[in-house]
Order: sequence, then C-alpha cells, then structure tokens
Amino acid sequence: MSNQQQKSSHVVWHESKVSQTMREQSNGHQGAVLWFTGLSGSGKSTLANAVEECLHGMKAKTFVIDGDNVRHGLCADLSFSDEDRVENIRRVGEMAGLFVEAGILTLTAFISPFRADRDKVRSIIGERFIEVHCNTALEICESRDVKGLYKKARAGEIPDFTGISSPYEAPEHPELCVNTGNHDLSVCVNQVVDYLIQQHVIEAT
Ligand code: ADX
Repeated sequence: MSNQQQKSSHVVWHESKVSQTMREQSNGHQGAVLWFTGLSGSGKSTLANAVEECLHGMKAKTFVIDGDNVRHGLCADLSFSDEDRVENIRRVGEMAGLFVEAGILTLTAFISPFRADRDKVRSIIGERFIEVHCNTALEICESRDVKGLYKKARAGEIPDFTGISSPYEAPEHPELCVNTGNHDLSVCVNQVVDYLIQQHVIEAT
C-alpha cells in the first residue's frame, strides 16, 4: 500500500457548523458554477469577467477561476498533454465545488476539451453546475488569434494545440450556448445573467 492510500484511509470528514444554506442565506443568492468551455480565443475569459462584473454590480459574491491564471500557480506543474488536461480539470472541478459550498457564484474559464472531464465535474457539483459553451467557430478564433498562439501552433511550434493538433469535444447538452463571435458582449452577458435569474440562482435587482 502506498503512503497516499494509507493516509486517505485515516482521514476523517469534518462537518462545518456553518452550512452552505446558511452561507447562501447571508449572501442572498445560491452558490453555483458557471463553467465556460470552448476553444482558445472563443471569448470564455472575456465573457466570464463581464458576467462577474454584472453580478458584482447586483451585490453577489463572485469569483472567476481562469485557466491561464491557474496555470501560473495551482496547475503550474501541468502540460497540455491529454493526461495533464484531465488533471487540470479535476483539480479545478474540486476547487469549484468548494467555492459552491462557500455559497459563491463561481465562474470558471477553461478550454476543458474533454466531455468526460466536464461530466465528472457536473457529477461532483450536481444541479449547481451550469455549463456554458462559448461556441465561437475555430476559423473565427484563429482569425482573432489574440495571443498569436494559433499561428505558432500551425507552424508546429506548439504541440497538442486545441482545435489544431488536439481535440475539442463540444458539449452535447450545455445549459447555455453563447456565441461571442456573432453578438455584442452585453447581449451575451444578459443571456447568462437572465438564465441565473430564471433558475432562481439570484434575484433580479
Ligand atoms: S485546458 O485544456 O487544460 O482546459 P486551459 O484552459 O487550462 O486548458 O489553458 C488554455 C490556455 O493555455 C489557452 O487559452 C492558451 O492561452 C494557453 N495554451 C498554451 N498551450 C496550449 C495548447 N497546447 N492548447 C491549448 N491552449 C494552450
């Protein structure tokens, strides 16, 4: 038996005296995850940050967990191999689950290219998991090429690049599909915030 297995069999779960419901009551809204998924350059981070700004204006407790940022710290040890992407999403999924328990409206912006990994996060978080597909087409993401990464990927300078040399599995039944390529950002923000209001995650102000 490895040390890790021994350790986990001697760890006891502690219940918190302050429950998720109590936290949600004092926050005035539910805890939930808006899980933005899509290609690099599809508008995930831009949209997540704009939605957060709107929710913050509605006095909600919010936090954005962004793929590029997390890869500077918590996941700095991970590459873009399939195996490491699986681990990236596992860690972030667990973290997002903790934020939901804290009653926070959590917005994650990760390519999260594999359906099975996103479904695993959904199974951890349950009905508070809201999958938002930023479905901007590859051609548009590539023509924007904000970070110049598509050009490098096409030149063979970046291996395993999503959409070019690594797969992206689009969600089959996302709660929301948002196309930032065809609509103004404010229209996309309203689409997401209206959904949260409709689902009684947060009340309209
Ligand atoms: S994920 O696939 O594991 O979910 P994540 O969202 O954390 O990816 O990171 C994606 C960001 O890393 C991209 O927006 C891009 O800026 C950068 N990046 C660097 N190398 C790659 C690559 N090979 N494939 C995709 N994105 C990459």
